[in-house]
Amino acid sequence: MMKQDIKDVMFTKEEIDAKVRELAKEINEHYQNRSKDLVVIGILKGANVFLADLIRQLDLPVYIDFMAVSSYGTSTKSSGVVKIMKDLDLEIENRDVLIVEDIIDTGLTLKYLTQNLNTRNANSIKICTLLNKEYRRMAEIPVDFIGFEIPDEFIVGYGIDFAEQYRNLPYIATLKEEVYQE
Ligand code: IMP
Ligand code: MG
Repeated sequence: MMKQDIKDVMFTKEEIDAKVRELAKEINEHYQNRSKDLVVIGILKGANVFLADLIRQLDLPVYIDFMAVSSYGTSTKSSGVVKIMKDLDLEIENRDVLIVEDIIDTGLTLKYLTQNLNTRNANSIKICTLLNKEYRRMAEIPVDFIGFEIPDEFIVGYGIDFAEQYRNLPYIATLKEEVYQE
C-alpha cells in the first residue's frame, strides 16, 4: 500500500488549497487588464492536478493547453536535453502564455521549453510553479509565480510521481529512502 511508503507529509491538502488560492489571486491581478488572449499551458503529467485546481480559481478568460516533455537521463538526474512528446494544439502567437509546472528542480526542462516557445512569437511568457527547489538550479530561468520553496528532498503527491506512482495522493510528502533506493 502507498501510505506505508510515506515518510513525512510536507504540505497538507488544506495548505495546498490555500496556496493555490493565493497564487490564483496573484495571477488574476497580473492579467486582469490585459487585452491579449491568455493561454495556460500545463506540463504533463505532473502539473495536471495543480492546473486543474488553479484554473478553477482564475477569474479570467483562458485557453487551456498541455505539453508533454521527456528529459533524457535517469529519473533523478535531468540531462537538460528535452524531447517534446506532445506539442501544443493552440497557437500562441501574439498571446500571453502562462506555463504551469508542478516542480522546478535544475530548471533545465523549463529552460529548453521556454527557448522553444520563444520562437513562436508569443506576446509574453510567464512561469508558475507550485514547488521550487532553488538550491538545485542549474539554468537561469525567471519564475514569476512560486507556491512553496522546498529543500532538496524528493517529494511525491498532488500530481507528482515516483516511478509513475503516488500522483493521486491529495497531499505532498517525502518517501521513505528504502522505497526509491531499490
Ligand atoms: P528540472 O527542473 O529540469 O530538473 O526538472 C523538473 C522535473 O523533474 C519536474 O517537472 C519533475 O517531473 C521532476 N522532479 C524534480 N524534483 C522532483 C521530486 O522531488 N519528485 C518528483 N519529481 C521531481
Ligand atoms: Mg514534470
